[in-house]
Amino acid sequence: MGPPISRNLHRTAKKTPSKAPAKTPKTKAPVSETGPTSSLPVDLLQLLLNIFRNAFPERLSTDITPLLQEVKGHLYNRDFSTAFGKEEYLETYAVRWSPSRTLCYLEILYNLQDELKPSKSESQEGEDANWNIVGLGGGAGAEIVALGGLLKLFATTNEDEHTAKMNIAAIDIADWANVIKQLHSGIVTKPPLSKYASAAAQSANNALTSPSSFAVTFHQHDVLNLPPETLARLVENAHLITLLFTLNELYTSSLSLTQKFLLNLTTALAPGTHLLVVDSPGSYSTVSLNDTDKKYPMQWLLDHTLLQPPGSAKADAAPRWEKLQEEESKWFRLPGGLRYPIELENMRYQLHLYRRCG
Ligand SMILES: C[S@@+](CC[C@H](N)C(=O)[O-])C[C@H]1O[C@@H](n2cnc3c(N)ncnc32)[C@H](O)[C@@H]1O
Repeated sequence: MGPPISRNLHRTAKKTPSKAPAKTPKTKAPVSETGPTSSLPVDLLQLLLNIFRNAFPERLSTDITPLLQEVKGHLYNRDFSTAFGKEEYLETYAVRWSPSRTLCYLEILYNLQDELKPSKSESQEGEDANWNIVGLGGGAGAEIVALGGLLKLFATTNEDEHTAKMNIAAIDIADWANVIKQLHSGIVTKPPLSKYASAAAQSANNALTSPSSFAVTFHQHDVLNLPPETLARLVENAHLITLLFTLNELYTSSLSLTQKFLLNLTTALAPGTHLLVVDSPGSYSTVSLNDTDKKYPMQWLLDHTLLQPPGSAKADAAPRWEKLQEEESKWFRLPGGLRYPIELENMRYQLHLYRRCG
């Protein structure tokens, strides 16, 4: 495989937090590939990992291996209804896979903030500035904890002028309600401290953000079978829609239903809404035509659906989305010094950012 290709279609200034706390590596990060590691403040990344650790102590205080093997087995067999079918499996999935993704998503969102943050006029409703985000397939909590981290990062780097409040709706086919409740609680309440903690540690112990700044709702739906009017209600007023490590699952489940779903989503969304898609690089879906199977890259199918309007042969057919950024393969590498009871992973991903046209 050749070197990663990165194609910026639009200005996306990569930022380094201006007031990043000093990095003090304590343990060796599980670096599986060489390359630059994340420049986000390690202290903040650690706080996000602690949210997972504190939310599900039962999973992380005992040997998680047997449950992990069961979940992995069901995922391998693509038996998602069993893999996501009981609470202990959901918690196991969340503590194993969501923490690394959370840190990766925080970096992605932070780097895209200039594009994604709604302008004051878009977000102002009465006295409150709102940023409305819908996470499709967002049940396992990675995007939610990443957004909590983003709010904290805005607060510590004084970049929160337009972001007084985040409203997040997570929509998922599996029942992640309790996992999300625990993670939300970990974001908006002070983390537990030892009763022997010093007065200084106690006074420095703060929640990531407040409940009034960070609202999360969960909606259990199969997005591929949502009536268009229900989908429209769920994404009403959204500034950002995310499909993180979910789109390829949808394509694999049904290509035609996924295309229909993307078209319904397009119809439901207002001009200016952003759609962020992140997935494994090199994801393919098989399309059967005239008894022959042909594999298409996920991003080709996505561009085909979003960028080519129906009847696009007509010269006057207006595009419904514009593509702002594309990364075919990019690494997120963990910095050193992070502590977590089980393995954390560097991640490789593809990224596609679109904006709904007027
Ligand atoms: C690989 S997980 C990714 C979870 C999370 N977005 C993340 O990045 O960590 C895919 C998620 O999509 C959800 N999902 C799969 N098919 C779905 C569908 N038809 N409707 C809604 N959610 C779906 C799964 O339940 C699962 O939570």
